[in-house]
Amino acid sequence: MSIDTPPISPQQYEVLHGGGAEAAELAKQRISRRRFLRRSMLAVWGVSATASVAGALYYMFPNLSGGFGSAITVGKASEFKASKPADFKLEIQGVYHRPTARAYVIHLDPSTAFLLKGDVLKEQLTSENVVKDPKDGSYWIALYQKCVHLGCTVPFRDNCVSFKCPCHGSHYNVTGEFLDGPAPRSLDRFQMVLQGDDVVVNTGTINSTVAHPDATTKLIAAPTVECSA
Ligand code: FES
Repeated sequence: MSIDTPPISPQQYEVLHGGGAEAAELAKQRISRRRFLRRSMLAVWGVSATASVAGALYYMFPNLSGGFGSAITVGKASEFKASKPADFKLEIQGVYHRPTARAYVIHLDPSTAFLLKGDVLKEQLTSENVVKDPKDGSYWIALYQKCVHLGCTVPFRDNCVSFKCPCHGSHYNVTGEFLDGPAPRSLDRFQMVLQGDDVVVNTGTINSTVAHPDATTKLIAAPTVECSA
């Protein structure tokens, strides 16, 4: 009997099959069970299909999700104490990891001694996504945590005041400028803005054009302390 067969009354069953009313009642229950199973299967299929479509949309349009790939508020400006490059300490001053944005927020003290001056400095800051805070003259950068060599997450090392990749040793200073190792360029940067007191990192806009610095583009001096192995 097809699972689509409509239920019949005990009397109809008796006429058709010569069975008793009790047998007909049992047959009716079997049909109801099959109908229940069929509806359950359809419900499971519907939920799976909806989840698949939602997943596909997330990967196609990540910036609609509010997660990585969109603009993310990573905290209040007052939570990120500024520091001179030589005094950076992870999560205490100068450098802060924000995993939701896969970024390090860098906050440089207004007195930071840049190696470049005047218009050259201004142009370099703009091209490297360095934001000058209009309130106090400090500088902000959102560095992508991913090593530009082969993609490992690069930790910040307090002991040598720089980023050192554990995979193949690429080494970057506190502003993400390349120092040494196999990386083809400096760390990538996200666009970031200060909105009132909010620090917002736009993880959908990545600047991956910050080259190996030379004497004409280097922003800050290399750290004086060597990283231990
Ligand atoms: S992945 Fe970082 S140095 Fe290779």
